[in-house]
Amino acid sequence: MPGLLEGKIALVTGAGHGIGRGHAVELAKHGATVIVNDLGSSVSGEGNGRDADVVVDLITSRGGTASANYGDVSNEAQATEMVQQAIDTYGRIDILVNNAGIVRDRAVWNMSADDFDLVMNVHVRGTWLTCRAAAQHWRERAKGGDGNVGGRIINTTSGAGLLGNFGQTNYATAKAAIVGMTLTLNLELSKLGVTANVIGPGGITRISGTLHPEAVREPDEIPDDEFDPFDPSLCSPVVAWLCSDEAGYVSGQVIRAMGEHIHLMGGWTEEVTLSNGRKRWDATKLGDLFAVDVFKTKAPGLRLGG
Ligand SMILES: NC(=O)c1ccc[n+]([C@@H]2O[C@H](COP(=O)([O-])OP(=O)(O)OC[C@H]3O[C@@H](n4cnc5c(N)ncnc54)[C@H](O)[C@@H]3O)[C@@H](O)[C@H]2O)c1
Repeated sequence: MPGLLEGKIALVTGAGHGIGRGHAVELAKHGATVIVNDLGSSVSGEGNGRDADVVVDLITSRGGTASANYGDVSNEAQATEMVQQAIDTYGRIDILVNNAGIVRDRAVWNMSADDFDLVMNVHVRGTWLTCRAAAQHWRERAKGGDGNVGGRIINTTSGAGLLGNFGQTNYATAKAAIVGMTLTLNLELSKLGVTANVIGPGGITRISGTLHPEAVREPDEIPDDEFDPFDPSLCSPVVAWLCSDEAGYVSGQVIRAMGEHIHLMGGWTEEVTLSNGRKRWDATKLGDLFAVDVFKTKAPGLRLGG
């Protein structure tokens, strides 16, 4: 039986550890050829190394095809180059999974502007740079007569970005920005047959296990017959499916996949609407409106304004 992703060329960023490692191994398992990118930095973004090599070896030892890339996604030249590596080595790129990430947690009053900027750069700028490079390639292919480009973008958000999290104003801002970016990529790229979705993963990794590093396990350290609800690779099958031809009708979605659950997230909706009959609102009258009609904290009979 041909694999779900047979013949596809994929780039997974930050794939040296944790969730990204799980994605790279899963995509390869279904037949994709994978560029394993990883800067090899610490959880807070310091240093660099060849961590990607471990994952390339893991994939090739299981019969798959993979190449390493050690670039920094937040660097324009290096982010562009990692997409180009797929094109130069394998002729094209079909799948882009933006997963690289760091954290620099502090309550807002203690956070430096550098901690804010670096987290934004890796998550937001890094995601945007690789998306732009892949979009340019797909657009060229479409203009050259390829009627079914079929590209796939999977970007990564988190509970912090969707719901907020104490001590993570930088990270939460970045992860929410990635959602807005992906909704817009969907609008811009859908005509080319490219889908863009957001995954919200879970698991105990270097990032989420900073207080308990002893609990961190890489996906390949968990036996195949064990179900660990904190296995960082539990969302990888969802990513693989979203990257497949079967999922061509799914785009502009935010899907969280944590533990045993898959959640399709609803977007921002107008939960309550008030209208003022084409007049300007009067701030002194809004107290009643918010209490009675919006937040329902006051019985209608208690309206001051009658
Ligand atoms: N762990 C969780 O519970 C959780 C929850 C929601 C979202 N996420 C997101 O999942 C993604 C993966 O994180 P993880 O938890 O597996 O952590 P991790 O530290 O295990 O993996 C992140 C990887 O990104 C690499 N990286 C960092 N900066 C990079 C850069 N500039 N260029 C290229 N690679 C870089 C790191 O070297 C590391 O290998 C992140 O985007 C994170 O925000 C994690």
